[in-house]
Amino acid sequence: MDFQFTEEQLMIRDMARNFAQNVLKQGVIERDRDMIYPTDEVKQMAELGFLGMMVDPQYNGGGMDTISYVLAMEELSKVDASCSVIVSVNNSLVCWGLEKYGTEAQKEKYLKRLASGECLGAFALSEPEAGSDATSQRTTAEDKGDYYLLNGIKNWITNGGKAEIYLVIAQTHPEKRHKGINVLIVERDSPGFEVGVKEDKLGIRASDTHSLIFTDVKVPKENRIGDDGFGFTFAMNTLNGGRIGIAAQALGIASGAYELALAYSKVRKAFGTEICNHQAIQFKLADMATEIEAARLMILKAAYLKDQGEDFSTLAAMAKSFASDVAMKTTIEAVQIHGGYGYVKEYHVERLMRDAKITQIYEGTTEVQKIVVSRNLLKGITV
Ligand code: CAA
Repeated sequence: MDFQFTEEQLMIRDMARNFAQNVLKQGVIERDRDMIYPTDEVKQMAELGFLGMMVDPQYNGGGMDTISYVLAMEELSKVDASCSVIVSVNNSLVCWGLEKYGTEAQKEKYLKRLASGECLGAFALSEPEAGSDATSQRTTAEDKGDYYLLNGIKNWITNGGKAEIYLVIAQTHPEKRHKGINVLIVERDSPGFEVGVKEDKLGIRASDTHSLIFTDVKVPKENRIGDDGFGFTFAMNTLNGGRIGIAAQALGIASGAYELALAYSKVRKAFGTEICNHQAIQFKLADMATEIEAARLMILKAAYLKDQGEDFSTLAAMAKSFASDVAMKTTIEAVQIHGGYGYVKEYHVERLMRDAKITQIYEGTTEVQKIVVSRNLLKGITV
């Protein structure tokens, strides 16, 4: 067992930390307040290689491991979770599945552009009536011989209005239930495809979340990923890795809030001394730091198992549900430590508290993670 990071992993962590502190921090309050998409910041993240971190260099990626990805996600999320979700979705939910299951032609045509950050991708699974219950897909992909005819609506899609390439999950053979589902690569300019309303959200307000509408969209057969009926397995396998990314995002939100609370407690005075000298504050800081460290170890182990090619689905679900609860709890305590200052935007912790909530919801709610963990345990798939 080795708890040391490699030099390369530390370099990536430091690069992400510097970028987050020096670039993302500027304007983060305004972007959140006015729902301003971080166009320039995304461009810079692409130049730094954050959008295709784990993709093989042959497809314009960074060829990094999952541990490096976790370290970068934590640092970016400490400052701006709206930016880090863009990184997470492009890496985990779009590039990963294309690289693992796509054809050579699909990789040449789409993965190279996505991994370099030349364009963004989106993952379209959720529907108005199929969120957690993801097997109940209403979007249909009718087999018309050499193309699929796509009809339906997708909801809450990250990068929805900014992406150029969409991985769309849709039902082709309803009688086969989840084994009849396909995943199709849809280009933004396909006739019949429309980006719907932009969501006005509680948190991650600068990220771009939309509904998507498909009306008789013709998708060539060569844009199906994997065999006929592989779409649900594709989505589940993709989400297993995505959950490591969101767990790391939750960790970053928690550790960002903790660092702000620790620093504030050393300068704010009450009852004749800095508040860090009061046991009530000390115990809060101790609990925050303990839980953050537990989450970090769990996430790194999930990343390690993924890098080793082992089954990491149980641990990824555990890490996501644990880390997102830690993010919620820690950010609430960080606001409490800041008192009245914590309730206003200037001190950042109220934003982190709002951003934390989504980590308990997207890429599988906390309840879905518990379904995954318990079913795996009963099948004998442990950590
Ligand atoms: N890994 C691999 N396979 C999995 C899996 C996992 N974690 N979870 C389920 N499966 C497989 C099962 O083994 C089963 O396969 P077989 O039939 O071949 O055995 C198949 O999926 C169906 O599973 P169940 O029979 O357990 O189906 P269910 O309907 O009872 O439960 C579920 C499935 C686990 C709840 C699943 O629907 C699920 O994960 N739902 C949540 C979906 C989700 O995470 N949505 C997030 C949207 S994406 C997003 O948020 C993106 C964004 O923009 C940020």
